[in-house]
Amino acid sequence: MTAPKGNGVEEWFTIRWVSGRVEMLDQRELPNEERYLSLTEVDEVAVAIEELAIRGAPAIGCAAAMGVALGAWRSDAREVAALVGEIESQVIPRLRRTRPTAVNLFWALDRMRETMTRLAGAPGASADSLREGLLAEAETILEDDKAICREIGQAGLDLVPDGSRVLTHCNAGALATGGYGTALGVVRAAVESGRDVRVLADETRPLFQGARLTAWELSRDSIPVEVCTDNMAGYLMQQGEVDLVVVGADRIAANGDVANKIGTYALAVLAHAHSIPFYVAAPLSTIDLQIADGAGIPIEIRGRDEVARVGGRTLLPDTVGVRQPAFDVTPASLVTAIVTEKGLVKPPCPEAIAALFQPES
Ligand code: MRU
Repeated sequence: MTAPKGNGVEEWFTIRWVSGRVEMLDQRELPNEERYLSLTEVDEVAVAIEELAIRGAPAIGCAAAMGVALGAWRSDAREVAALVGEIESQVIPRLRRTRPTAVNLFWALDRMRETMTRLAGAPGASADSLREGLLAEAETILEDDKAICREIGQAGLDLVPDGSRVLTHCNAGALATGGYGTALGVVRAAVESGRDVRVLADETRPLFQGARLTAWELSRDSIPVEVCTDNMAGYLMQQGEVDLVVVGADRIAANGDVANKIGTYALAVLAHAHSIPFYVAAPLSTIDLQIADGAGIPIEIRGRDEVARVGGRTLLPDTVGVRQPAFDVTPASLVTAIVTEKGLVKPPCPEAIAALFQPES
């Protein structure tokens, strides 16, 4: 087997900046078509996030940062103050409205705002130096994210012994990050270290991120993967076919409660019932110390059609409503460990989580 790439450098990429444009793989079209969007307007980036052309918490953060850089590049403002005003009043608010649960979105926008404030106040600052600086920051966020995913992979290596059968949910892979992935980064690191690892991907209703995306990117790396429907997980665990569960996260509260794709909580309960370890892999940018516990995490409610229609066909009578929470919250008590770039923490663990943010001495 060739070493898994997972960052798409040679074959494909999640998102990048090219000559004043933001390019991203349109994840709505996978696995049938590998089509790239080439975006030149902030609103196009916002719509791409809203419509899940790009999705997954860290990738949403990268897209938002690129969106701010794009806003600066598209602006006609000649004065620093005018450019800052435009970014503050139009660009950042538009991007903030796209998706509410993944905290990486707000983390990236706050970081871009801080950079803008610092650069705008620097001696000799010009509108052009601000544009250059914002683009450099967006590219740093993207490159850092790829590197952090590899660190997460190394931190989680010992959790995946040779011969492991790993169940995952949604897509927490290269497609959901700058590259390499969080949950799938742990899988990739184990494979790169020579271990035999097989992945079971929950298809992940309603939008099939597991079937369409996880299966696609793992098969591109020749990592063994099979897809099961979400309601098969309990049976497969009961049959002894799952050794561990690894998922990503959209937001982790200060106490270790984890918001992730709807269905994650049910998997955690099942894993607990079968004494199977349940791991959450996420960068520090997914941890929200401002929110004490999972009850405070905003849960995105998405549109009816995502549940009511599949593959162009309507599945239920027009008069019948649907429920469509896009995420759920897994209590910290059901999480065996959170795998971060700074190592593992074992919930419930507010002190251990807070310690991750202390500067290294
Ligand atoms: O609605 P999505 O596809 O953006 O949801 C994505 C997830 O829930 C992922 O598991 C999460 O963002 C972790 S990505 C590394």
